[in-house]
Amino acid sequence: MRISVIGCGYLGAVHAASMAELGHEVVGIDVDERKISALCAGRAPFYEPDFEQLLGHALESGRLSFSTDVADATGAQVHFLCVGTPQKHGEYAADLRFVQAAAESLLQVLAPGELVVGKSTVPVGTAAELAAMFSEKVPGALLAWNPEFLREGFAVRDTLHPDRLVYGLPAGGDGDTAERLLDEVYAAIVARGTPKVITDHATAEMVKTAANSFLATKISFINAMAELCEATGADVKLLADAIGYDDRIGRKFLNAGLGFGGGCLPKDIRAFMARAGELGADQALTFLREVDNINMRRRIRMVELAREVLDGSLLGKRVAVLGAAFKPDSDDIRDSPALNVAAQLQLQGAVVCVTDPAAVENSRREWPHLDYAATPEEAAADADAVLVLTEWRQYCELDPVAFGALVRQKRVLDGRNALDREAWTAAGWTYRALGRRVG
Ligand code: UGA
Repeated sequence: MRISVIGCGYLGAVHAASMAELGHEVVGIDVDERKISALCAGRAPFYEPDFEQLLGHALESGRLSFSTDVADATGAQVHFLCVGTPQKHGEYAADLRFVQAAAESLLQVLAPGELVVGKSTVPVGTAAELAAMFSEKVPGALLAWNPEFLREGFAVRDTLHPDRLVYGLPAGGDGDTAERLLDEVYAAIVARGTPKVITDHATAEMVKTAANSFLATKISFINAMAELCEATGADVKLLADAIGYDDRIGRKFLNAGLGFGGGCLPKDIRAFMARAGELGADQALTFLREVDNINMRRRIRMVELAREVLDGSLLGKRVAVLGAAFKPDSDDIRDSPALNVAAQLQLQGAVVCVTDPAAVENSRREWPHLDYAATPEEAAADADAVLVLTEWRQYCELDPVAFGALVRQKRVLDGRNALDREAWTAAGWTYRALGRRVG
């Protein structure tokens, strides 16, 4: 099939290359010339395991191209909308500027019988508005909503092997046509027996925000338990293991620590609350405000813990921060809990040196007042405390004995409950973590 993908950020670039991998002829469109020239040259504009290889393969096959000109999307049977929906400045609501701009640009090329497929995370009701616009301007064009559930760090795998497909379709015969086209796009995935949920636009839009809200709630639940564990001397990691054995609860997303960040969970729960308010149903989601509060409190608590460990004062203390990305295997620093803590420590008088295997460049651009190092060893030189704030594998595998020789004081704060506590304490380190006893 001929496919266009409008918006070549994280979601769009991976989607475009994946669709080419599935055998389609794909053009990715973006207004950002730098991004497009990187993609054309086979370079990933962001860090994502396996993506560059997939991109190279797709470009070599001749089935994938990129352009800044939406005219190159002419003739595609299916147009995917993959632009970002960030949080509005000073508001909880999502900023739909890019969705609107992308939809309007599509009007230049869209023809009757072609299908527009929304993949961006949008407030419920957006698809209905877009559908009304398309049917007025291009009668016979169709719109489906097909949310994406990919995780950064696993984007390629999640796109090519999703755990479910959700089709939000228009009613009647248009819905049947749209379903047929989507089945053709995802033929290889459908053939594997991947569960498929057929629904309307509104439900499909809500599936995405509900899923992310549930995940955020699960993380904040265990972090609330961590607060209680800190008050009682109980251990949140063992608590999570124990409740996680109940498969109605499950152990995944019960890792207590610094909490969630990134470009999705925080802004999605806020946009969901804002939309509920507009719909007069704000009470239904007031609990998400608490989910957000619990999450943000973890960052403050981490700073307090650092102060405690540093004998009550941060002034002039050298702190090594291991990890800047909002999670491992990513260079994404949007709403990164690690950088938030690093900046708070610096503002309160500590001398902070941050390292990260992938995110130093992005961090330096956004937080130029922090010091940066290329390696954990360099960051930890003469440190009074080491804070592990993103659980990169290489940090979890550090040798606490050798590492101990670099620092001034062997104090480690495990912000992600990811280190081998016994090994670090055996090597003479004072080990502290959120929701755990003093070690
Ligand atoms: C999230 C969802 O997991 C995806 O399904 C969704 O498609 C995506 O948002 C999106 O909306 O595009 P992502 O933002 O890549 O994916 O990251 P997650 O793996 O969900 O992690 C989010 C944050 O929660 C990270 O900061 C992570 O460190 C934190 N987290 C995760 C915890 O603090 N504890 C856990 O147990 C799990």
